[in-house]
Amino acid sequence: MNFKEIVMSRYATKKFNGEKIPQDKVDELIELIRYSASSFNMQTWKLKIISDPKMLADLKPVSFNQEQITTCSHLLVFCADSDLMGSINRIKQMMLDSGAKEEDIKAYIDMMTSYVSSLDENGKNSYARDQVFIALGNALNGAKALGFDSCPMGGFDPMKYKEMLNLSDNLMPAVICPIGYAADEPRPKMRFDNIVL
Ligand SMILES: Cc1cc2nc3c(=O)[nH]c(=O)nc-3n(C[C@H](O)[C@H](O)[C@H](O)COP(=O)(O)O)c2cc1C
Repeated sequence: MNFKEIVMSRYATKKFNGEKIPQDKVDELIELIRYSASSFNMQTWKLKIISDPKMLADLKPVSFNQEQITTCSHLLVFCADSDLMGSINRIKQMMLDSGAKEEDIKAYIDMMTSYVSSLDENGKNSYARDQVFIALGNALNGAKALGFDSCPMGGFDPMKYKEMLNLSDNLMPAVICPIGYAADEPRPKMRFDNIVL
């Protein structure tokens, strides 16, 4: 499938057939997600991947009882990582390892530190969360490209997820994405026909 065919045939799957996606395919999807674009390359996402049936069954009631949760192969929980100084330090280390010039590293670190310092907690969270949705886009189209299906889902209780998955303070579930093999049929696409102003 070329990219247009992937985009046109992907759909929000409402029910999966329970079959497991091979681990190497899941790994390929993680790689596509990992390569997503992000503002200043801050990569403010972390993924929790759940395939344990008991945990999925426990998460279903805090996901509006949506059937995708217990019929999927794996559930990707996209977390926004608001530890922005942590991201900056990791990028600094990568720049050092890659032999980047000292002045380039300093320019990047100074600029980013000053930007991050200007944000309050809400600002940090929303900055981190914005990047997560770009990664979600890669996951949705990436899944189709790799031969399986997905559903972006905002219908879940982020605080309950945070608690049940024992996530650290800096991580907040932003969106979830079950993946698997569809056991339903796509509905006709409904799209506004003119989005260009
Ligand atoms: C952020 C976000 C949250 C969504 N939440 C849910 C959800 O909780 N349950 C669900 O079945 N679909 C959910 N959807 C899927 C949308 O309803 C779907 O993408 C839209 O209707 C377009 O249909 P299509 O993706 O099949 O083309 C969500 C989509 C997005 C992007």
